[in-house]
This record gives sequence, C-alpha cells and structure tokens, in this order.
Amino acid sequence: MARPADPAGGGRREETHHGGDMGTGRNTRTIEWLGDAVRLIDQTRLPRELVHKETRDYRDIAESIRRLEVRGAPAIGVAAAMGIALAALEHKALGLSRFRTEVASAAGLLNSTRPTAVNLGWAVARMLEVLRDPALGDPGEAVRRLTAEALAICEEDRELSRRIGEHGASLIDDGDGVLTHCNAGGLATAEYGTALAVIFAAVEQGKKIRAFADETRPLLQGARLTTWEFLQKGIDVTLLCDSAAASAMARGWVTKVVVGADRIARNGDVANKVGTFPLALAAREHGVPFYVAAPFTTLDASLGSGALIPIEERDASEVTDIQGVRVAPRGVSVYNPAFDVTPSRLVTAIITDAGIFAAPYEETLFRDRRGLEA
Ligand code: MRU
Repeated sequence: MARPADPAGGGRREETHHGGDMGTGRNTRTIEWLGDAVRLIDQTRLPRELVHKETRDYRDIAESIRRLEVRGAPAIGVAAAMGIALAALEHKALGLSRFRTEVASAAGLLNSTRPTAVNLGWAVARMLEVLRDPALGDPGEAVRRLTAEALAICEEDRELSRRIGEHGASLIDDGDGVLTHCNAGGLATAEYGTALAVIFAAVEQGKKIRAFADETRPLLQGARLTTWEFLQKGIDVTLLCDSAAASAMARGWVTKVVVGADRIARNGDVANKVGTFPLALAAREHGVPFYVAAPFTTLDASLGSGALIPIEERDASEVTDIQGVRVAPRGVSVYNPAFDVTPSRLVTAIITDAGIFAAPYEETLFRDRRGLEA
C-alpha cells in the first residue's frame, strides 16, 4: 500500500518550544485538522517542552494513541475520527468499493489502539456510518463527508466540555478544596476538559477553590499535565503523591473529588485511570463527595456493570522505570493495569453535558443515551 507524502517530506514534522514561558500565547490546541493533515500536541513531552506533531498518515495517529502522545477518552475519539479522514484522503483515487475496504481497515487499526475508553469506539462507529452510507456517490464525496464528520466530532466535544463545566460548577462551593486524578482537562478532550472543566468553570464564576492534583503513577498525567493546565490558567494547584490523598482528606483540605471517566456502565460503575477506585474509597471513609464528570460519549449502554469493561494492561517498563530511569530490580514481576473500576455505590453523582445524575443510573442517566435530569 502506498504511504502518503509526509508534510515534512520525511518523518513526521515536529515543532518544539522549550522553557519556562510554556503556554503563554502559544498554540495549546490538543488536536487540530489542517485540511490535509492533523496536528497534535505530543503529551509525552509535556511539561518539559511543547511539541506539535503533524502527519498525513493515519498509521502515525494510531501510534500516537498507543504511545499516549494523544490521550484521554474524548481526545482519542477525536484523533481516531481525524485518522479515518486522513485514510479517506490517502485512498481517494480508488474505486468506491476498494476505498470503503481500505478506509474500514484503517478504522479497524485505529479502533484497536486502546481498549478501555468507549469514546474511541463511539467515534469510529460514527465515522463508519458515514463510510457505509449507501447514498455515497464516489470517494470524493466520501472524503468531504468523512472530513466534515471528524470536524463535527471535534467541535461537538468542545461544546460537551463547556456544558459539563457549567453543570458541574454548581456542585462546587466557594472555599472548596477539590482533588482530581490523572488528567481530565483540555489535553484529554478537544478543549477545556471534563473533571477540570468543572473546576475551571467554578473558578471562572469567581469561586475561591484550592485545587489538588494526584501525581498519577505510573505515567504521571497528574504531575505533568494537570498541573501544567492549572498553571497555564493561573490557577494555584497543589501536587501530591497518589498515596497522600487520604491524608489530605483526613486534614480536611479536600472537600470534594472530581474525576473523569473512560467508560461508564449502565449500573453507574466507572472505569477511569488506575488509582481512582482507592481515591473513591478514601473519599467515602472521610465523607467527601466523589463526583465523576463525563460526556455522553463515555456512556456504554451495552454493558450492565463495570465487571464487563475491558481494562487495558500496559508494558511493565511503565512501572519499573520512571521517565526512562530504571527504579525496580531486573527480573521483578509487574501488574500494570491502566485503569480501574469504581463501583457506582462510591459515586455521589455523575456530571454530564446533559446535567447531574444520581443513582439508579440505569433509570436516570441511561434512560436515553443522554439521560434525563435526576
Ligand atoms: O491513559 P490515559 O491518560 O488516556 O487515561 C486518561 C484518563 O483516565 C482520564 O481520566 C479519562 O480518559 C477522562 S479524560 C476527560
């Protein structure tokens, strides 16, 4: 199969900004469609440097998702949709039937990159619906429609995040200490975020909030990305080791927890970054409300409970090494699940783009895919 020309005429194009003024006045869009290429922030390099990658090759997008250069449930859905649009451009000279086969195969590759976040499969399914539309006349028309669909998915995600922020901010009081885990901010979405959107919106409303970010081992999304986002917005944030969260609650510093989600089952069980479940247990022990913020694209109505959610297990080196430095002895066995499942009984409420929902989630949130106000 012919590979498309790369914008840099070789490997993927990279643009790097180093140093202490990170973010000020620079392009911090998580992911962008450039007309015939995709530009995304390589999140593995943050906060040391802000590096943008550009590619016309959907295979690079699949690799970026696998390597967590682009990550976070909604963002990988957007990336996969744009990847499918790139595949469509690459194959536009084929006849319609071959075109459909090649683009569907690219969609399969993108869909196979990470198993837990349902937003990925949701975005791929939405793109495939366009690809399979019997009314499609030729590949040219398919390219136009697939590109428009990918852009719509990206644009809609921005809007969903804003709505989550608006709804969720009503749960945050002036003077709250709000703890979050992993990164559920603008970097994990097209823009603004889910859990972080709630905190950002509360701050925008003038509430005085003390933000806390778990470092989030093994890959430190909290330490590297969440603190970066807060500081970019000029919001003070306190970083803590995951294991210090219960102590911060015991001291009364943390009065609310807000996390994102990768998949929510019909009974309200929530898959999110590993470490979320122990955080919910600690919150229950201390009487701290535990909120989950997610768009409707994170709901999986096909699964009755969290036990059915596929949990990604990643390479042992993510645990034995920290930022490329070996910290564990050679020969050690490793358990490295990327996500865990928090039982819905530990979840105080789920904040979505359509409002705030409490249990029983099957009858509130899942009554239709967007749910009804609880
Ligand atoms: O492995 P990651 O970094 O993709 O995990 C991300 C998370 O667990 C987020 O909390 C979740 O995707 C919600 S993002 C709005």
